[in-house]
Amino acid sequence: MSRELIIVLDFGGQYNQLIARRVREAGVYCEVHPYTMPLKELKEKNPKGIILTGGPNSVYDMKSPHYDVELFKSGIPILGICYGAQLIAWSMGGTVETAPVSEYGKTAITVDNKDCLFKDVEDETVMWMSHTDYIAKAPEGFTVTAHTPVCPVAAMENRDAGVFAVQFHPEVTHSVRGTEVLRSFIYDVCGCAGDWKMESFVESTIEEIRAKVGNGKALCALSGGVDSSVAAVLMSKAIGKQLTCVFVDHGLLRKDEGDEVEAVFGPDGEYELNFIRVNAQQRFYDKLAGVTEPEAKRKIIGEEFIRVFEEEAKKIGAVDFLVQGTIYPDIIESGLGDSAVIKSHHNVGGLPDYVDFKEIIEPLRLLFKDEVRRAGLELGIPEYLVFRQPFPGPGLGVRIIGEVTAEKCRIVQEADAIYREEIAKAGLDKSINQYFAALTNMRSVGVMGDFRTYDYAVALRAVTTEDFMTAEATEIPWQVLQTVMNRIVNEVDGVNRVLYDLTSKPPGTVEFE
Ligand code: XMP
Repeated sequence: MSRELIIVLDFGGQYNQLIARRVREAGVYCEVHPYTMPLKELKEKNPKGIILTGGPNSVYDMKSPHYDVELFKSGIPILGICYGAQLIAWSMGGTVETAPVSEYGKTAITVDNKDCLFKDVEDETVMWMSHTDYIAKAPEGFTVTAHTPVCPVAAMENRDAGVFAVQFHPEVTHSVRGTEVLRSFIYDVCGCAGDWKMESFVESTIEEIRAKVGNGKALCALSGGVDSSVAAVLMSKAIGKQLTCVFVDHGLLRKDEGDEVEAVFGPDGEYELNFIRVNAQQRFYDKLAGVTEPEAKRKIIGEEFIRVFEEEAKKIGAVDFLVQGTIYPDIIESGLGDSAVIKSHHNVGGLPDYVDFKEIIEPLRLLFKDEVRRAGLELGIPEYLVFRQPFPGPGLGVRIIGEVTAEKCRIVQEADAIYREEIAKAGLDKSINQYFAALTNMRSVGVMGDFRTYDYAVALRAVTTEDFMTAEATEIPWQVLQTVMNRIVNEVDGVNRVLYDLTSKPPGTVEFE
């Protein structure tokens, strides 16, 4: 694998990961590091270029993140975006001020110099702006390469020093020629060839795993989700039967899901590995009996999962490696630390303290989610597994409001299966980011034939979202919803009402608990 590297230096901007993804889409491997990484360490990584991200601060506030000015004289090509641009201006003797009016949203930009970053951009174009401070005067040695009515320096460059700055966000899709600007930087300024490919990643990772594991044994918690499935297949291709996968069926999976996972990874499947399915459904229902508080439920499910996994691991005995399906967004350390925790997300595969292993192995730790899927396809994993919608670790436990019981699980599984079937029939399954049925804790009066019923209400949820941090309720055609409603009330015992959840996030969350 070619290892051209571009580093995104994170100053707390909300688009830091997006920048890294754009760079990788351009075929160059990219890592995100916090602005606290010392210059010496940065240089040791031998990057072809460095991109400084935006951030919420003002450069002239001394408490704001700054960086060693030697960086700008290092000869490594630099691109500053938004706050990163202002930091360059401020550090190199230009002036940064608070603009008379903030610029937010799509903004018309006039390009003043098309020689380099803007070579594939029209003279007038639209870019995404989101700033209050602006560069009022470029530092000596810099040429202004774009402006807007508000921003005298929407972009500037000092080509001799290899330092470039843009006030707008080229990484955001609203920026009409943003990708071209980034690619000019990556190819023309940094001189990258752009040959980082998934195929080579998969091959080299398999080699690395083989070299690392040797004759050792590895243990993997398999949930059937995309990440753990791809991790398991990568491991299996590398070390075959030296790998054991433990799949805990906690009874909170979607309809038939346990059997589907077994069909792919079990003895009748096509992968070489040891597969252990633990049917622990009743154990989880027993633990959850009488518990209604959402965080308490999440905690119980998480802990019980680890207990079950630990018991299996004990039967297997000591292993050398524990496989984790950690992906890159999980390990990127933000420039400014974590934001508030709304829900304690439990990912199946969370670290069991008590399993006897020497080392953790994280074969996907360098990949973003879409890259994990591409790796999955490259490995020949069935498409329905690779493109599965997200499913929370605590499973249906957070889709059943209030106490979880086996009966409620059955109801929500059946309703959800009907919903998924009809969404697929209507051809909407690829376009809706996440959709599922949940069980409200509400029973209400209805009439079925000549009889009064007093049954549960099922809620249908569907969201359109880019990153699951914010989401909109999806507009599903009325006819499709009616078909789903008709089928659920007729086919699922115990349900006499179907509701559609219109709430966006915020203020709602995607899951119900
Ligand atoms: P919320 O409900 O927080 O969900 O708006 C955002 C996204 O995260 C998924 N989710 C989880 N994923 N473990 C996970 O791996 C969890 O505990 C968990 N809780 C929510 C949810 O399905 C949605 O995609």
